[in-house]
Amino acid sequence: MPTLAPLKKLDRTVQPKSSATKRLVPIKQSLSELAGPVFGLNAVKKIDADLTKNAAKKGKEAIGERMILTGSVTDEEDRPVPGALIEIWQTNAAGLYAHKGDQHDAPADPNFHGTGRCVTGADGQYRFTTIRPGAYPITRLGNRWRPAHIHYSITGGSFAQRLITQCYFPGDPLQDDDFVFQAVTNKAARERLIVKYAPEQSIMGYAAGYSFDIVLRGRDATPMEK
Ligand SMILES: [Fe+2]
Repeated sequence: MPTLAPLKKLDRTVQPKSSATKRLVPIKQSLSELAGPVFGLNAVKKIDADLTKNAAKKGKEAIGERMILTGSVTDEEDRPVPGALIEIWQTNAAGLYAHKGDQHDAPADPNFHGTGRCVTGADGQYRFTTIRPGAYPITRLGNRWRPAHIHYSITGGSFAQRLITQCYFPGDPLQDDDFVFQAVTNKAARERLIVKYAPEQSIMGYAAGYSFDIVLRGRDATPMEK
């Protein structure tokens, strides 16, 4: 039977190896972090960013309160992220998704599919025209309603810049009782999920402007949907 060597007495004058005694060294990201979905920018058409018309029959448009939804996409160092793909999806004005899985009792809008996409410009800005979504019930949780919101998927230049989130509207009392919104436990972070009224973005007599800025990473990152 082999004999075990006696345990060495711990030398407490030696600094444990796991203790950081020097400046942190930035590690280069590998290809798997830097590579991302490849899509042809030409595949995204201008009409894709106008949800009031991109699914409407000729001469028709979606019913609802029109709005311009615009903002910036920046990284953790406040640099604009150009060429980011932004996809959004939402209910119609009555709170119904254009999906067979959504069967709650609300009127459908045949001229609205509730999906849109665009690519940020060189300045990291994006812009949609859409209608304000409605609240919808979550009956499996009892008599509960989700506040009006718009889902976002943002794909930056790499998978490290992927973000799935939702934006909300100011002053909506349903937010107080919403399990998705309240899953973001930090109040300041929740505030970053609420769009701001941006009258300078409004189109006179046509649509009210709102802004929703997105930070992909870092301490001030837009909270990820939980
Ligand atoms: Fe939703």
